[in-house]
Amino acid sequence: MSKAQATSADSAPSHNQLDTKAQAWSALFSEPMSDLVKRYTSSVFFDKRLWQADIAGSLAHAEMLAAQGIISASDHASIQRGMAQITSEIESGAFEWKLDLEDVHLNIEARLTQLVGDAGKRLHTGRSRNDQVATDVRLWLRGEIDLIGDLLKELQVSLVDVAEQNVEVILPGFTHLQVAQPVSFGHHMLAYVEMFKRDAERMADVRRRTNVLPLGSAALAGTTYPLDRERVAKTLGMEGVCQNSLDAVSDRDFAIEFTAAASLCMVHVSRLSEELIIWMSQNFGFIKIADRFTTGSSIMPQKKNPDVPELARGKTGRVVGHLMGLITLMKGQPLAYNKDNQEDKEPLFDTVDTLKDTLRIFAEMVGGQLNPATGQKEGGITVNAQAMEQAALKGYATATDLADYLVKKGLPFRDAHETVAHAVKAATSHACDLSELPLTVLQGFHPAIEKDVYECLSLRGSLNARNTLGGTAPAQVRAQLARHRARLA
Ligand code: ARG
Repeated sequence: MSKAQATSADSAPSHNQLDTKAQAWSALFSEPMSDLVKRYTSSVFFDKRLWQADIAGSLAHAEMLAAQGIISASDHASIQRGMAQITSEIESGAFEWKLDLEDVHLNIEARLTQLVGDAGKRLHTGRSRNDQVATDVRLWLRGEIDLIGDLLKELQVSLVDVAEQNVEVILPGFTHLQVAQPVSFGHHMLAYVEMFKRDAERMADVRRRTNVLPLGSAALAGTTYPLDRERVAKTLGMEGVCQNSLDAVSDRDFAIEFTAAASLCMVHVSRLSEELIIWMSQNFGFIKIADRFTTGSSIMPQKKNPDVPELARGKTGRVVGHLMGLITLMKGQPLAYNKDNQEDKEPLFDTVDTLKDTLRIFAEMVGGQLNPATGQKEGGITVNAQAMEQAALKGYATATDLADYLVKKGLPFRDAHETVAHAVKAATSHACDLSELPLTVLQGFHPAIEKDVYECLSLRGSLNARNTLGGTAPAQVRAQLARHRARLA
């Protein structure tokens, strides 16, 4: 540290100012922090995004302190006035964030004291940064979970829109990425709606446990002032109060479970991405996504690459990584608060940013963008129904239907399965579909086979036959569509 810096850091704080963090607890310290340690320990340049939650928490705390007679009404008014000014300073970009003041909490408190004097110094009565930060993160995350809930709904609506337009479109359903049975493309889309519906439910569940108040736990053991924690919780719209002060300041499992729910959601996006990528490759040609979600190649002029789904698939690794980071952060921490917990923020923030961007972009890429002139959504995925249907005709997708046909004629299923295997072998050697084998040839495999077999060998017949709850028959898909529409309305 240069002599000039050392002098300024060592100078005595003016009565109403808290210009450097050291001054928050300076009397005990015989030397200032080195620049490297300051940089290493400070979090202000990322935790400043908690500022609104920090101010909301402080205002609720101050209101309660005044109501309980712990601070005067005029101190409360000064704190409100100071916080209003700080809010406009931060919003306008005029607020000066100082590395020296370590984090968002000390930065705001120092400025408050600068603005309103002793009233600012009284704000921290009965409070510690430990319960303050836990409260801030919970408040902030609650708001983000609500935004994510809205985005998950938008994505589901997009998928339902595409499903509705494609109930009768048939694509080969795969298992092991081998043609298995024909399915409705609408049905396929609705599978993702189910996944994102569960993701939304998980988010709502995480919200319940996040929306609980740590404030009033102070450093770790509670406080000697007659706080009314229920009142603060009510002011902040929280559903309850953390019941154990040690747990309240040290626990971050709400952040971990949020990141777990986010990881699962990204895994679902990643699976969808993988399908979009496969479907838009030239060998499939099932769909197209709008050009604005693709990029060209700097060397191959013919290329249109599915960068957005590929990146989403890649970013899934990043979010799962954050889950690993957070869960490992918690492991081995003794009660109560430890500075390790400052490391919860960047992974959590990045998880939120990545998930929100991904959901937003997918809702638009799948379902399109609203054209205000027509009131219609435009530019979502384009489906090539013919290519899907052609692909479904390859690979004997109706073989199970033939087996089921024979079962209905009285054969035990295992025997029917074996009979059809012979038929498939014959069709393969003739390089044709089962439905292209003449009736006499089919009858050679089993005499019970009659002319009506061709109905069950057709793609549409196969689809219509799967008319059980959750099945791919268009009637079932329409019923599911109606259920989702009502739920998402
Ligand atoms: N910036 C800190 C964090 O993110 C705030 C709490 C600091 N508490 C403390 N005792 N050092 O966790």
